[in-house]
Order: sequence, then structure tokens, then C-alpha cells
Amino acid sequence: MSTSSAATQTPLTQLPAWKALATHYEKIHTEHLRDLFKNDPKRGTRFAVEAEGIYLDYSKHRITEETLKLLLQLAEESGLKARIDAMFSGEKINTTEKRAVLHVALRAPKSEKIVVDGEDVVPGVHEVLDRMSAFADRVRSGEWLGYTDKPIKNIINIGIGGSDLGPVMAYEALRHYSQRDLVFRFVSNIDGTDFAEATHDLDPEETLFIISSKTFTTLETMTNAHSARTWALKALKHQAAIAKHFVAVSTNAAEVSKFGIDTANMFGFWDWVGGRYSMDSAIGLSTMLAVGPDNFRKMLAGFHSIDEHFRTAPFEKNLPVLLGLLTVWYADFFGAQTVAVLPYDQYLKRFPAYLQQLTMESNGKHVTLSGDHVNYETGPIFWGEPGTNGQHSFYQLIHQGTHLIPSDFIGFSKTLNKLGDHHDLLMANVFAQAEALAFGKTAEEVKAEGTPAWLMPHRVFEGNRPSNTILVEKLTPETLGKLVALYEHSVFTQGTIWQINSFDQWGVELGKVLAKKIGGELEGAGEITTHDSSTNTLINFYKKQRG
Ligand code: F6P
Repeated sequence: MSTSSAATQTPLTQLPAWKALATHYEKIHTEHLRDLFKNDPKRGTRFAVEAEGIYLDYSKHRITEETLKLLLQLAEESGLKARIDAMFSGEKINTTEKRAVLHVALRAPKSEKIVVDGEDVVPGVHEVLDRMSAFADRVRSGEWLGYTDKPIKNIINIGIGGSDLGPVMAYEALRHYSQRDLVFRFVSNIDGTDFAEATHDLDPEETLFIISSKTFTTLETMTNAHSARTWALKALKHQAAIAKHFVAVSTNAAEVSKFGIDTANMFGFWDWVGGRYSMDSAIGLSTMLAVGPDNFRKMLAGFHSIDEHFRTAPFEKNLPVLLGLLTVWYADFFGAQTVAVLPYDQYLKRFPAYLQQLTMESNGKHVTLSGDHVNYETGPIFWGEPGTNGQHSFYQLIHQGTHLIPSDFIGFSKTLNKLGDHHDLLMANVFAQAEALAFGKTAEEVKAEGTPAWLMPHRVFEGNRPSNTILVEKLTPETLGKLVALYEHSVFTQGTIWQINSFDQWGVELGKVLAKKIGGELEGAGEITTHDSSTNTLINFYKKQRG
């Protein structure tokens, strides 16, 4: 099968494995996890894989050996292997933007060679990493001075989407490893409150801004960047101060210099790095400043180990492939519309938000690579909160609501902050929740507890609610890289099965264009009549109330 030329692909629903899965679903969907476990005492280890320091237990899924066989067959028939090879070899698999998809090159060791348009991109990656490292060392050691010769104490990353969510998530995740005398803040929202609150207690003389934008044209980022420049210049007075207090991360050198940042203070990346796949490019400069170049490189090594696993491991032992196929199984056959991601680690509090862009901007597509409307479900909604907080909020719905919500539990065997028995109690909750979701509590069990008949229906847990449990020894830069790569390649697997382009994002354009038009209309005082009656009324109401 051709890899990037999807025109020749057999439609998904015509593939033999898909048809077989549809038939198989009719047989299996009423089976209960209680029975599946009762009939197979080894199920808990049979449906589990350990690779690259990640233990994945997927036994609490509504699958049998037959389901797995058919899902793996679906991966084969979908040409997953060829498509993985196409990505790793720099083929332009992002067909609508005519771009290669090479975030894997960002973590390739120096010895590797990856060619795009006749050029090996790996040396360039390492050249930028070396420049980032030298700069990070100077800032972290206090050698880099602001315009008034004070060392930098505060670092503010201005960016949005992939130029914000990865950096924030990684900073929070690796805070334990961060240089504590540096303050890190992240401004993304065009709402002036975001900038005002991030800067209100900071001294411009000690503050460094990283303007992170692949395009350097994004409205939110450029508006915040201009406000930052005004804020800094108000205190520092001289234009020459910009060179000491602003650096840029971008692919667009022309726009960077137009803004007034010396391109000597610019860290570049390439059009083959998608925004949501860029936290390990120069977009991760704030991460490197926080945790240091060595830890950043350890994170890259973690990414790379999962890249190699994804590229080489047989599908039945391939962590991202298994995760991706299970997501397809629920989205398309059980009609599950969402996936909950539940990290049991406070440091991963922004991980679900990060995954939302990664998964939904990638796989929220309704046409195939060849432009046909799909006749099956694609990317589900990803959401979540760290445990155990979620348990006291939305878990009720996962346990007893009417929606089927496959859930990913993520836990670590060792804590970074040993405090009494907190960690065992935390992990007890991981195991308990996954167990409760799978097995529930039967009417007989509830009755045996002496529950009155009228209360019984309320206290029964149906169970049969699927989950993955992902266990890792410890949260480190390396394991964070592994976790992110795991989800990146799971998204890739899903997108391949669905025959969609996981690497463009045309769906964000229309709103941007309309906001620009309406922005102009908000400037004047006149009544607006150019839209539909709802939009006109809302704009005019706002203008009147705003005054
Ligand atoms: O939301 C659309 C988007 O293009 C994302 O894909 C991207 O991560 C974000 O905007 C920011 O883009 P940039 O880095 O070019 O400012």
C-alpha cells in the first residue's frame, strides 16, 4: 500500500479487519470484565506489556484475544508499518501542507541521518540545541545580564497552543528538577489579564521574555509580545534594552527582526515540526532554562527511546500501537465519545490540557486524506484532571453515569516528595478506581451489606468500564519524554487507522478570519449589520454596554 498517497487506500469500513471487528463487537459487547477475568486467571498479565520502563496494563478492557488479533490485523491492513517508516524517513505525509512530519528528528542522536529535500536535518537540530544550551547556561549562572546589568530572575514565555501548552506542562512536570531561584511564568491568552497578572510583581530589569511562535504572526502572541515590549521599555527606556530582555523562538526570521529582536537571539526550528509536536524543539527553551541542558537532553533521550520502540517493536508489544488501537475500538465500535486521562501525580497537572491539543487538533478531522467525508467516528474528546482531585468531582459520572468513558490511569512507583504514607495512599486510589470501574458492585453484594431494597439500585455499580493503567518508576525528565512520545505515537496510530491527516489544523482558520473582521468592527461606534441577526445583536449589545 502507498504511504502518503491515500487516494489508493481501501476505505476503512471496507477493510476485512474492520468488517470482522463489527461482527465481533456484536458477540463481545455484552461480555462483562468480571467474567473475562473469572475465565482467565492470567488475564492481568496476558494483556500487559512492559517496554522502555513503561508498564501498560490493558487487561481491564472489553477485549478478548480475538479482539486484539483483529485490531492488530486492522493496523496491518491500514498500512501502519509503511506509514511509520514514511514518517521516520522524512516523507511529506502532511499532504495538505506538503510537509514532512519529523518531530522524531528533534530527539535523534547526532549519529542518525534523516533527509528532507536532500538535506540531513540532524546536524541542524544539534546546532540549535547547542546554542540553546549555551544561552541557558549563561542565564542560569547569572552571567547573562539585563540592560541595567542585573542578572535575570524572571522568565516569561509568551506563546499559545503548541508554543505554550508543552512548555507549561513540561515546566510543571519537571518543577522538582528546576532551578528554584528563577521564576517562570507563561502568558498565552489575549485577555490582558493574563499578561497583567504575570507581570504585576516583576521588575522589568530582571525579566527575560521568550516570544515563542512558529509563525510569529499569531494574533494572541504578537499582541502579548507588543505589550511586553511596551512594559519593558517603559522601565528600561532604551530600545537597545530589547536585545537583553527578549529572545525569540520561531521559524520566521523575517518577522522576528521586524518585531525588533536581533536574530542572534533567535532559536529556530523547521516547518516539519508541528506546533503541538514542538515542546522538544527550541519551543522548549523555557523548559531548558528551568531544568538545565543536561536534563533537557535526558528528556530528549526519553522521547527517542519510545520513537525507536514505536518504529521497531512488533505491534502486539508496541505500547503506542496498542493504546491507539484501543482508542479506535471504543470510539468506533462502542461509540465512546471521550477519553479521560487521569495522572496520579500533582506534577502532571497540566498533562491533560497538553494532551487535549495533541490529540484533538491532530485527530479532530472529518475528511480522509483523499478528501472524502468519513463514515465513522474519528478523534474522541480528551479530558482529565490529576487524581485524586477528579475522584471528588467527575468520577461519579464515570462510575455510574450513562456514558462509557475509557480512562487512562497514570501512576509512579516512587514519589519525588516523600511525605508520610501519602504516596501509598495516592497509589491505592489508582488501583482502587481501576478495579471499581472494571468490576463494580453487584446487586447481591449490595444486598448482602443489608441495604434496603429501595436504595439498592442507587448503590449498585455496573462496572465493565474500561481503563488502561500506566505505571512508571519515577517522574524524571526521561520518563516525561517517554510519556509524551507514547501519546504522540498513539495519536499517529489512530490517525493512520482513520485515514486522516493528523498534522494539519485547517479547522482553526475560520474563527481567526472572522475575529479579524469583527475586531475592525469593534473599533468604530456605528451599528453593525453585516452579520446574521444573532451576531449583529451581540456585537451591538457589547458596543453599547462597553461604552
Ligand atoms: O491553534 C492553531 C495553531 O496554529 C496551533 O497549531 C499552534 O500550536 C498555535 O496556533 C500557535 O502557533 P504559533 O506557534 O505559530 O504562534
